[in-house]
Amino acid sequence: MTNRCGTQGQSGDGHAVSRPFALEIGVSPDQLRGFDTHVHRRLSALQGQFSAQEAYDKMLPSDPLLYEVYTKQRPEVAGELAHGITILYPGRVGNEFFMTKGHYHALRETAEIYYCLKGRGLLLMETDAGDWAAEEFSPGRMVYVAPCWAHRSINTGGEELILFFAFPGNAGHDYAAIEQRGFRKIVVQRNGSIEVVDNPRWSSAVVR
Ligand code: F6R
Ligand code: ZN
Repeated sequence: MTNRCGTQGQSGDGHAVSRPFALEIGVSPDQLRGFDTHVHRRLSALQGQFSAQEAYDKMLPSDPLLYEVYTKQRPEVAGELAHGITILYPGRVGNEFFMTKGHYHALRETAEIYYCLKGRGLLLMETDAGDWAAEEFSPGRMVYVAPCWAHRSINTGGEELILFFAFPGNAGHDYAAIEQRGFRKIVVQRNGSIEVVDNPRWSSAVVR
C-alpha cells in the first residue's frame, strides 16, 4: 500500500514529499510576508448578507474593504494543513458588525482551528440541522470549529480582529448555502451592547 511518506523525497504515489518549514507570523505587516496568497474582500462581496439593506446601499459606492486573508498554500490532500491569517476591519453596516462571508467546508467532515492574535470578536457557527453557537475571540483565545459547522468571523471591537487559522488541505470551501440563505443569527450593537439575535433575512429554504 502506498502512502505520502515514501523514501528519499518521493512519496509512494510519485509526488515530492512535503518538507518541514517554519514561519514568522504576527500582527505586523512584516510578519505576513511568508504567506503566498493574499485576498481582499470588500462590502460588495457580501451582497444580501447584512440585514440593513438601506445602510448597505448607502455604503456600497465607496465599497469599503472588510477583510484580507493571507494563506500559505498546501497541497489539497488529506494530511496537509492549509493555514493563514485573516485581518477583519472594525465597522458596521447599520447596527450589524463587519463580518466574513462565511462558509461550510466542501468536505463537510473537516474541522478548523482559529487562534486570535489581536482584537475582539465572535465566531458564529451553525449546522444544517439547525444547531448554532457563538464563541468569543480575544487575544490568546482559540476557537475549535467542529466538523460539519459553517463558520463566520465577526469583529465586535474598535480595532482590527486578527486571526490565525489552520484546516485540512482537502477541506475545500462551499459558500453557496450561506450566500443563498445567510446564517440563522446576526450580531448587532443595541443600546451600546453586543447582541446575537435572529436574522430577519434568514431563509429556511433547503439549498442543495
Ligand atoms: C478557511 C477559513 C478562513 C476564512 C477566512 C475568510 O477555511 O475558515 O480562512 O476563509 O477567515 O472567510 P471567508 O472564507 O468566509 O470569506
Ligand atoms: Zn473554514
